Amino acid sequence: MRVLGIETSCDETGVAVYDTARPGPEGLRAHAIYSQIALHAEYGGVVPELASRDHVRKLLPLIRQTLAEAGLTTADLDGVAYTAGPGLVGALLVGAGVARSLAWALDLPAIGVHHMEGHLLAPLLEDPDLKPPFVALLVSGGHTQLVEVDAIGQYRLLGETLDDAAGEAFDKTAKLMGLPYPGGPQLAAIAETGRPGAYKFARPMTDRPGLDFSFSGLKTQVLLAWRNSDQSEATRADIARGFEDAVVDTLAIKCERALDAARCNTLVVAGGVGANKRLREKLAAIATKRGGRVCFPRPALCTDNGAMIAFAGALRLQAGEREGAAVTVLPRWDMASLPTVGSGRSGL
Ligand code: KG4
Ligand code: ZN
Repeated sequence: MRVLGIETSCDETGVAVYDTARPGPEGLRAHAIYSQIALHAEYGGVVPELASRDHVRKLLPLIRQTLAEAGLTTADLDGVAYTAGPGLVGALLVGAGVARSLAWALDLPAIGVHHMEGHLLAPLLEDPDLKPPFVALLVSGGHTQLVEVDAIGQYRLLGETLDDAAGEAFDKTAKLMGLPYPGGPQLAAIAETGRPGAYKFARPMTDRPGLDFSFSGLKTQVLLAWRNSDQSEATRADIARGFEDAVVDTLAIKCERALDAARCNTLVVAGGVGANKRLREKLAAIATKRGGRVCFPRPALCTDNGAMIAFAGALRLQAGEREGAAVTVLPRWDMASLPTVGSGRSGL
């Protein structure tokens, strides 16, 4: 089954074709991303209306480009998957409107995919042998969640952030030290040259039991440190390193606890912050110590992309899930409400 995947939940237009006849990375026939970073940079964050309008401009050309790269035409498609939520309502409606129209015109089944389920299943696209049960750490710009996965579509929330998401904390911290939007990857790059231990920040909420996170206080600690410093390049690097180590340690401590709680030794990491090198190294070391394994998608499939939507949609379409022709999006959508794949229920 060849499925066209469309992602427009925020500031990235992503399109891909996934072919279930070729399991694993080979199934990804083509994928393309158009990033709106330059468009939003001067505002220091995503402007929802501008995001929607840019998706309108870029989506159809990107679909044509992706199909051409895959050597396919619309006649070769067997289904259409699109991000139905959570995300910015206008941005979601662009993808949903185009996906539903294409499906209707081509007489194909269509499915609305949960963006975080897309992230969560991306590691399975890379490694077809990876199967539940496992614990997933979802770390993006909008979410920080630990999820127990018993089956595909059966998600139990073990813990989540009470305030800022991990990616949001990276972005806000970068901004307050004068780095341009989106600062997360840049902060991580600068941290490479910082001295470990030069600045030591708290590991929030690790001194008490539980699997929830809180990152907003860390940002304030950095602000104070930055204001009281000489604000040189070297100091910025030291502070960035101290901040990154604090976030990475905190995530790692909670991942270990979650694995213990779920009596499991397989950890799956997904979402934009999953591209962070130090986080990848730290979690790999923990997995080795426990005799377990940790799975990450390649960095390009950690951040928003169409491939994860094509893949997650293909799993559900293959299991016979179908939805009606209405264009429905859910800006807020609880992942625990999703049906288990193969249960015969529909998600939207
Ligand atoms: O999953 P994603 O692309 O979009 C959302 O669904 O939110 O995640 C984007 C987030 C941003 O906050 C970005 O700063 C962060 O992921 N991010 C990183 C890195 N690459 C992306 N944070 C830390 N280190 C990185 N290397
Ligand atoms: Zn995302």
